[in-house]
Amino acid sequence: MATIYITTPIYYTNDVPHIGHAYTTLAADVLTRFHRFIGNRVFFLTGTDEHGQKIARKAAEENMSPKEYVDKIVISFQDLWKKLDISYDYFIRTTDPIHHATCQEFFRRVKAQGDIYKGTYRGLYCTGCESFKNESDLVDGKCPDHNKAPEWLEEEDYFFRWSRYQTQLEDFFGLHPQFVLPKTRYNETRGFLKKGLQDIPITRTLIDWGIPVPDDPQHVLYVWFDALINYLTGIGWNQPELADRFEQFWQQGTVIHLMAKDILSKHALLWPAMLMSAGIKLPSTCFSHGYFTKDGLKISKSIGNTIDPFDLHARFGADAFRFFFLREFSFGDDGDYSEKRFLERHNSDLANDLGNLVSRVTAMVHKYRAGSLALQPDNTFDSTLSMLWVQWKELISSFRFKECLDVIWEFITQLNVYVDAEKPWSLAKAEKNTELNLVLSNLLEGLRHTSLLIYPFMPNTAQKIFQQIGLGDLPEKISTTEQAWGKFQKKITVYQDKPLFPKNEL
Ligand code: MSP
Repeated sequence: MATIYITTPIYYTNDVPHIGHAYTTLAADVLTRFHRFIGNRVFFLTGTDEHGQKIARKAAEENMSPKEYVDKIVISFQDLWKKLDISYDYFIRTTDPIHHATCQEFFRRVKAQGDIYKGTYRGLYCTGCESFKNESDLVDGKCPDHNKAPEWLEEEDYFFRWSRYQTQLEDFFGLHPQFVLPKTRYNETRGFLKKGLQDIPITRTLIDWGIPVPDDPQHVLYVWFDALINYLTGIGWNQPELADRFEQFWQQGTVIHLMAKDILSKHALLWPAMLMSAGIKLPSTCFSHGYFTKDGLKISKSIGNTIDPFDLHARFGADAFRFFFLREFSFGDDGDYSEKRFLERHNSDLANDLGNLVSRVTAMVHKYRAGSLALQPDNTFDSTLSMLWVQWKELISSFRFKECLDVIWEFITQLNVYVDAEKPWSLAKAEKNTELNLVLSNLLEGLRHTSLLIYPFMPNTAQKIFQQIGLGDLPEKISTTEQAWGKFQKKITVYQDKPLFPKNEL
């Protein structure tokens, strides 16, 4: 049994959640559910990043105090995660007092190492990314991610000796090719590192919406020097009552940070240097996925082409939502969203391939066997399934969610082809009872496997199918017996229900 700590970025609370936030969080949930299902212990952390200039300004625009404002926004994040069945263990907020204490202790440790000194920052700052910028980061004088010219900043700050960790980081990258995934991002990050690291400010004086610096409270921590530390607060670092959690998940476990490429260098270069300085073990992997555009354009409020996750959920439900984003795009690549593609996938993969199969099989068991059947499958799908379970494990554990859904859907297609080829209606008409029992048994056994295989992606649908084929509650963990074809022989009573995914028009 492995112990795994899975995190999403903590999202800015300057606005309600959008589709990009939902995407990373869904992927983290699939990974979490998968590991728990195969018997691993997982601690899944998500949360919100509530300090910084961007949020303070937004709150002021709304005539609210920053805390009042973030308290309101946090509710919408928690609400969306509930709607999308996100099974996190802890939701961290950077305004939590315990997080303040953790950051201050972390600052003290880094300072005690001689890695913090006072200086003056004269340079550019992009509030959109909450990042200090060089001229070379800009395109036509603007931050390419936010399409805005950064502000000129001049203030007294504390600096972190990032440059001191240049060689140690290079050595670490050389020894840990899995530290950044996918491989292309690892190469990019290593290339970026080779250009040389410069010390950066880790406090701000011109704003006060942040965590006060120990012994110098007119400074507050720079939002990234506060945000990254959430991963330690959330797992119990420096909290005696949570020492066991920290030991098992951080010290002894595998630590996986998920994020998009926009914030990879903060996770893969700044964060490890901070941890090295504080004398704390480094995470195992930073997996960076791609960025979405919509209909070929960058998603942005000013263009007015945002995708509202609440609206998609209200129209299609959690599982269709979860399925689409993980099936449509290879995790790691950029992707272009269009509602047309969403509907196509919904109607073909979910309504036709899966939904229809379940309706057809349950209807036939009702029509020809009065709803009840003693399962006695043969070995028609035996080798397909034993290979499929191996692929399932390998693909999900290596973050290849789309590829995993592809192979599951190949199996669903095989079951549909089997129905058409074996024609149970003809067998019934010809009263070939043994043959009919066999075909229906194979189909029900196929549906049992399907529901277990799709569980990490679509937990509700998996449970509904399990119930409809008379097997009750899904197991919490999946044993080798459950993964074996045909080992599960018993009399079951099948229920008919409304279609799992009613077809939807644009
Ligand atoms: N608060 C920081 C993260 C601190 S983590 C220690 C932050 N927040 S954010 O609200 O801007 O969220 C960024 C993350 O949201 C991305 O890394 C990604 O996980 C997700 N996405 C936001 N927009 C996205 C797309 N358009 N496409 C895919 N994911 C995106 O940065």
